[in-house]
Amino acid sequence: MDAPTNSRIVPKATGLLHGGDYNPEQWDSATLAEDDRLMDVVGWNEASMGIFSWVSLEPEEGKYTFDWLDERMDAMARHGRIVGLATPSAAQPAWMSLKYPEILRTGHDGVRRRHGHRVNFCWTSPRYREKTAVMARALAERYKDHPALGFWHVSNEYGGACYCDLCGAAFRDWLKERHGTLEALNAAHWTAFWGHTFTDWEQIETPTHGGESSIIGLYVDWKTFVSDRIVDFFRHEASALREITPDVPVTTNLMGTYPELDAWKIAPHMDFAAWDSYPFFSGPPHTLEPWISTSFSHDLCRTLKGKPFLLMECSPSSSNWYPVMGLKRPGMHLLEGIQAVAHGSDGVQYFQWRQGRGSSEQFHGAVVAHNQREDARVFRDVADLGALLKSLSEIAGSTTNADVALIYDWECNWAIENVQAPRREKRDYKQTVVDHYRALLSQGIACDVISSECDLTPYRMVVAPMMFMLKPGVAERLSSFVEAGGTLLSGYWSAVVNESVLAFLNGGDETWKRLFGIWVEEIDARYADRPMTIRTADGTEYEARDLCELIHAEDAEVLATYAADFYAGRPAVTSMERGAGRAVYVASRNDDAFLSDTLGELARSAGVAPDVSGSWPEGVVVRKRVGSHAEYVFVLNFNDHEVEVALEEPGLTVFATGDPSSRLALPSYGHAVLVRGFQ
Ligand code: GLA
Ligand code: ZN
Repeated sequence: MDAPTNSRIVPKATGLLHGGDYNPEQWDSATLAEDDRLMDVVGWNEASMGIFSWVSLEPEEGKYTFDWLDERMDAMARHGRIVGLATPSAAQPAWMSLKYPEILRTGHDGVRRRHGHRVNFCWTSPRYREKTAVMARALAERYKDHPALGFWHVSNEYGGACYCDLCGAAFRDWLKERHGTLEALNAAHWTAFWGHTFTDWEQIETPTHGGESSIIGLYVDWKTFVSDRIVDFFRHEASALREITPDVPVTTNLMGTYPELDAWKIAPHMDFAAWDSYPFFSGPPHTLEPWISTSFSHDLCRTLKGKPFLLMECSPSSSNWYPVMGLKRPGMHLLEGIQAVAHGSDGVQYFQWRQGRGSSEQFHGAVVAHNQREDARVFRDVADLGALLKSLSEIAGSTTNADVALIYDWECNWAIENVQAPRREKRDYKQTVVDHYRALLSQGIACDVISSECDLTPYRMVVAPMMFMLKPGVAERLSSFVEAGGTLLSGYWSAVVNESVLAFLNGGDETWKRLFGIWVEEIDARYADRPMTIRTADGTEYEARDLCELIHAEDAEVLATYAADFYAGRPAVTSMERGAGRAVYVASRNDDAFLSDTLGELARSAGVAPDVSGSWPEGVVVRKRVGSHAEYVFVLNFNDHEVEVALEEPGLTVFATGDPSSRLALPSYGHAVLVRGFQ
């Protein structure tokens, strides 16, 4: 593990951030005065303002009303808080939509939407670009020297596509840039199939309902284009901010692996990465899956910039859009916050400060609930987390470099989701990547989540499941990585198509085949009641399901074979020595025991040590961050029962109490922070 780097994401912050969405325009002045006091009580040192405030800042075209924001900015500064000041583009005022209907978004049915909701604007409209630029400039000019201005929170959760004629024209321009000529586009997308050859650029439309959406490569191009449009819009909004306040960091709140925006494309334009985490939409908190996939998204967010990120939003309680609004159990709020910090967040922020009395999110969790009481459970939990974050302030800016990288690609996801093979249900690209992640995480192996285009040289081991789309140069870079001593694992449904979703011929990409010493003949989708067994050389058996490839080991050594069906005895896992490294190919989707055993063994042989040594049960995660004075070990129990953890590390003590530790008993949803000072 390399020495930790130290880079604070917000220069004005004094430690870890604790704050979140603050919407003062909804409340009277007596309430605002109470906010100032209560924010001190919970240890808020940040407030994100202006996110949906456009109509409060410009109630009529060209008439600005910044006075209320001036007052709140001053109040934040008086209380030593920084402000993440937003551009309000996520919700244009009604007067603007009515006066300039061309700014409204057009749906995939080709119908322009009416005013309402939010993020309901066109990415291309010159009028909306003009209006958002004027507003960003006005905010930057007004607050550029304000002591509270900490960072720019550009817009809110960018997402979705617009299908208007302007976006259609921009799509054609984008295609011209990507493919050069119409002939090249026709060839790249195999348009001769079903007679879909284009004979004029103008024939290419946005893939609206009832229109063209059967050309898979073109559809994946559309997905890439939409993501690129969003990035372009972000750069547009940020440009005045960067010009007027060059030293103030600019960010926007991403949404984990949200499929419509390729985080790798927007990250280079952000000064630090940030995301909004609402884990219990995908599953209840008493199951491990939502916790693990949150850890995965945290690690992805940290890797985006190779430095700490910010958990921009989470709920202090439940979220009104969860299928079931289960309350956070005792311990859970601190656990969720410390989980983010353990994975590299330099703070914990919420949606939102005060629960609104009406409208669509009136029952969403908030720091100050409708009961408005300081002795309320949620408020106390937030205050406790605030105190803990304050005590950990010296780790702000610190990160550690992982020796293992796991590849997750947005384009690959788009391609897998849209091709019509090898089964309709359970293609499960993200789930598969997360399954590999879980196997590493549970063994304490720190992991970065990268794209296939990232630099591989910092790593000893690269895990690349289901790399269905093999982009140009990736096989070559993976080969160099292995030849230089790296360990690589990939497997089924990889290197099947190129960047235009054209299938490789002759059994696959040549470099890829040489790298693994195999070639793939067919892929079998298994029926749910017909799982498969694979057997290793020493007789260990694992269950395979969903997908099994029939491969030929040409130069590779066979480590396991299929144990049943007409392909019994054929290779299921292979290993190929190349240069100083090795490339392992796993031909089937195997059970968790296989992933744990295989990834654990590969990590050991690649010289990758766990972050912390010891033993702990399933559902416990142990992570380390290195501050300037000490190392901090975070032990997180995601189980709804007590667990015992035995760490084999000398010199660690429980941070809060100074107790010596080697065995820890953690209650359900409990956590411990351990510390070891530098000698
Ligand atoms: C998102 C938005 C917030 C709020 C929360 C509710 O993250 O950014 O404005 O709607 O969801 O969970
Ligand atoms: Zn549009």
